[in-house]
Amino acid sequence: MTDLPTGRSDLPEIETPPAGTEAYFGAAFPVAQRYAEHLATTGIEWGLIGPREVDRLWTRHILNCAVVAEFIGDDDVIGDVGSGAGLPGIPIALLRPEAKIVLIEPMERRVEWLTMVVEDLGLKNVRIVRARVEELVDEEMFTVITARAVKAMTTLIEWTRDVISPGGRILALKGASVEGELVKAKKLLKRYRLSAPKIYVVDAGGILEVPSRVVEIVKK
Ligand SMILES: C[S@@+](CC[C@H](N)C(=O)[O-])C[C@H]1O[C@@H](n2cnc3c(N)ncnc32)[C@H](O)[C@@H]1O
Repeated sequence: MTDLPTGRSDLPEIETPPAGTEAYFGAAFPVAQRYAEHLATTGIEWGLIGPREVDRLWTRHILNCAVVAEFIGDDDVIGDVGSGAGLPGIPIALLRPEAKIVLIEPMERRVEWLTMVVEDLGLKNVRIVRARVEELVDEEMFTVITARAVKAMTTLIEWTRDVISPGGRILALKGASVEGELVKAKKLLKRYRLSAPKIYVVDAGGILEVPSRVVEIVKK
């Protein structure tokens, strides 16, 4: 790791990680801290994350996304669609060093930032692909598609159904409006032989006051 960004004297005051976060990340905690510092400095300066998010960087972003790792196995190949600042792909990569993570992001500047951060964090299990996910049909296959704040479930299904291997899954982080999205997706699920969605409410072993909501859809 280089001296950036921890060597910066203008590091903003980042939310203190809630009790239990260090144990949750285990050996990867120092790297998770450094990721938080990247988000709070160049992440904001490059426009990948809003300045107000610094106060809730751990709860609302890093931990909120890290819970997806609870659904991931060592053999999984994950396509993180619309990765942006590496969410949820980077927290998953920290917690599942054996799994392979592909951060899929079309915007050049975001890809540049991700490249810098992934290299600095020394994440050997992460690859970055500059593309729209629907352009990757016939090029890439994933056992898991992850996504947060990208598109409604119907669009996500249309974009990703042909890059998910049989038996593979979509794991989408969703807000409270997910039920409505899933009603609209019902026909598509049937058409493309996808399972009925399961919604998991996950709190990172009691760490998160506001739990994350993970929607799982399986390709039959
Ligand atoms: C609102 S951001 C969410 C970023 C991140 N997932 C998060 O939760 O902070 C949506 C991202 O999806 C990307 N995106 C838009 N269309 C896409 C597509 N067709 N395939 C892959 N990514 C796409 C955008 O460039 C943007 O970075």
